[in-house]
Amino acid sequence: MRIAVLGLGTVGRHVVEALDSERELFRSRLGEELEVTRILVRDREKERPAGLDGRITYDPSAILADPSIEIVVELLGGLEPARTLIEQALRAGKSVVTANKEVIARSGPALSRSATPGADLLFEAAVAGGIPIIRSLQESLAGNRLEAIYGIVNGTTNYILSRMQQGGGGFADALDEARRLGYAEADPSDDLDAVDAVRKIAILASLAFGGWVDVDAVAKEGIRGITEDDMAEAKRLGGVIKLIARAEATQDGLSLGVSPTLIPLGHPLADVPGAQNAVYVRGEPIGELLFQGPGAGGPATSSAVIGDIIDAARSRRTGGRSVDLPREPAPLVPLGQHAHAYYLRLRLRNETGALALVAQAFASAGIGLSSVRQPMSASGESIVSLVTAPTRRGQLDEARLRLRRSPTLLAEESLILAELEPMDAPSAR
Ligand code: NAP
Ligand code: HSE
Repeated sequence: MRIAVLGLGTVGRHVVEALDSERELFRSRLGEELEVTRILVRDREKERPAGLDGRITYDPSAILADPSIEIVVELLGGLEPARTLIEQALRAGKSVVTANKEVIARSGPALSRSATPGADLLFEAAVAGGIPIIRSLQESLAGNRLEAIYGIVNGTTNYILSRMQQGGGGFADALDEARRLGYAEADPSDDLDAVDAVRKIAILASLAFGGWVDVDAVAKEGIRGITEDDMAEAKRLGGVIKLIARAEATQDGLSLGVSPTLIPLGHPLADVPGAQNAVYVRGEPIGELLFQGPGAGGPATSSAVIGDIIDAARSRRTGGRSVDLPREPAPLVPLGQHAHAYYLRLRLRNETGALALVAQAFASAGIGLSSVRQPMSASGESIVSLVTAPTRRGQLDEARLRLRRSPTLLAEESLILAELEPMDAPSAR
């Protein structure tokens, strides 16, 4: 069976290498050989690995118009031209395997509808790298009523936060290292500002709860503001800071968001190191499940891509696997409906009564404080870290506005969720 690979970067290189070197293994599993006959790239000046013997092309039509190619593996990244090439391949009756969460989150259902019967669209690698979470939600857990998903779904940010937590250097160094190791997106803002994690939780929630999630409606907060001071304070409070993507089924609809979150030590999501990902799923009748493993990088991602290629190849010979994607939009709960505890770190003018003013601003908004600490006070200014009692986001923003109007507040340094689950916990649907 002939395959074309679009893209020969971090992931594409590993996929082509594995398909070339493990031909015999895949033949024995499939009863037929998988052969990469074309590889699409863009940069004519770039040096390519040896052994690609004339398979490189710069022209997508050399792939799309070739009827002998049955599977197209899209590993370009970005919305366009990836989306158009996927659509053209599906319309031409080719099965498509992609790791592109941006394309799937934005256009998954429309693309799957554009496919000629017998052509599959598979995207296991789009969420959580090597962890088989897409197929688990689409197939193995299809008999459940799912209630909640909490995940560490971005390897780059988990790598940065884990390094900072271990005192292994500052933010910038950790980001450079994550880029060097091939974890980061072409534009790492997508990782740091939680854009990538939003795409992933939107895909997971769409598959788990039914209805397709609009990525633009998901609340998000990235990790740029997190400092080593926050890490030290989190440790003092008995936890660690992780970028958590949440999706909860409530009676009123789906509640979704991505934000840095204080996770208590001992919780399974607190112990996810480096670029690993983890996805916690709760539902009935299954109860609780935790998927954990390598979430980014060429080898982990190529494992999921190759699994999909083998699946696509099998289904082309047996008549198509065709798992439908939800068509209707998912009903989302307005942001801030649930109460959470929040951690804030504030920089105040170092003057008598400053702490009392902070407490007053929160009290006036009806918010109690469960912890207040003043870890540093130097000439002219002091740092105060506090944890609120469970409060709705609207109330919290009211207190923050009061503080901002007060000359006592010099800056709000950090704002993160201080617990995983909302206090008025959502009930099963
Ligand atoms: P990458 O290293 O930036 O590689 C991209 C490849 O695509 C390069 O070979 C590039 O060509 C080629 N390309 C890009 N635009 C093109 C165009 N318009 N025409 C022809 N070729 C083009 O990207 P990556 O890290 O492998 O990621 C690929 C996809 O997998 C993305 O969707 C990413 O989000 C996803 N993903 C990545 C990871 C990871 O850990 N890296 C994990 C899961 C999913 P040149 O070589 O000529 O520059
Ligand atoms: N940039 C992504 C991450 C790649 O760091 O998780 C895997 O999707």
